[in-house]
Amino acid sequence: MGNLLEGKVAVVTGAGTGLGKIEALALAKEGARVVVTDLGTAGDGTGSSQDPANQVVEEIKEMGGEAVAAFGDVGEFKDAEAAINKAIDTFGDLNILVNNAGFGRDKTIFKLTEDDWDSVIRVHLKGHYNHIKVACDYWRNKSKADGGPVYGRMISTGSEAFMFAPLGQPNYAAAKAGVVALSMSTAQVMGRYGVNINVVCPRARTRMTMDSPFAEIFEVPEMDPEHIGHPIVWLCSPLAEKISGYVFVCWGRQITIVERPNMDTKIENDADWTPESLTEKTADYFKDRQPVTDGFSVPPQ
Ligand SMILES: NC(=O)c1ccc[n+]([C@@H]2O[C@H](COP(=O)([O-])OP(=O)(O)OC[C@H]3O[C@@H](n4cnc5c(N)ncnc54)[C@H](O)[C@@H]3O)[C@@H](O)[C@H]2O)c1
Repeated sequence: MGNLLEGKVAVVTGAGTGLGKIEALALAKEGARVVVTDLGTAGDGTGSSQDPANQVVEEIKEMGGEAVAAFGDVGEFKDAEAAINKAIDTFGDLNILVNNAGFGRDKTIFKLTEDDWDSVIRVHLKGHYNHIKVACDYWRNKSKADGGPVYGRMISTGSEAFMFAPLGQPNYAAAKAGVVALSMSTAQVMGRYGVNINVVCPRARTRMTMDSPFAEIFEVPEMDPEHIGHPIVWLCSPLAEKISGYVFVCWGRQITIVERPNMDTKIENDADWTPESLTEKTADYFKDRQPVTDGFSVPPQ
């Protein structure tokens, strides 16, 4: 057990299994007291069970840490309020929020139903909003009452899908792009209160990836989910005081910091645009270009 997060109180969503479990254990190993929130769903987000969260709480207690479970659906605002209130009521404060819960329903646009769209947007994007909103209100009120900055760290869970938009993940890619935008906007307003927020896009061997058509890629040691705990602990620690508003791709012993999107070529006209003038003025730009089939770029290796 370390002490980098001694005295800190953390809420980790979807912490009953997969990456959330690794992250909750990693925070606890550094001294954080943890609220383990989970709905205990199947890989596609259906069903529920209290067992996974209870087991993680037991594991944390067995290694000498402190933890409680909070059962709920991250897509329900009142469940987010209940999870964060559980941290405050049980441990007296909130310092760390790791938004991790989620699932995929991977299909091309042709097969994607309205329910596939709504469910995946809800669990990731609304799930992040619900918890970020409750935590930010708590921290701002506390900062005003205390007359100074608080200690707040938030991790959002993104995915490289937000940039590369795989053809089988229109709902998931859109949800994760929303998570990045929500986090960037939040970073700009919460810094003044002592609160940081960063996005981690993990790659790891979990139920989510082992159920996917790309399972083979995740069977190598670098994809051991244990690797993801380390950058999470670092970003939640005092060592990351000045780091906020960034996106990290994390797997194995590698971390890639994602470049901020840039404006590309600017084209202007001295009269209102017409279809003809737009065709003429963009001709050079599109001359050797093809329709985009790989998102913004190729994944970092
Ligand atoms: N594994 C990867 O390589 C990878 C890559 C990119 C992004 N991610 C992201 O990491 C996060 C964790 O994924 P994982 O691979 O550990 O998957 P997982 O299926 O192993 O774990 C997901 C957890 O979320 C919980 N959950 C699902 N719906 C919920 C709800 N409505 N309310 C509360 N809890 C709910 C489940 O019960 C489960 O404990 C997800 O946000 C996922 O999109 C994972």
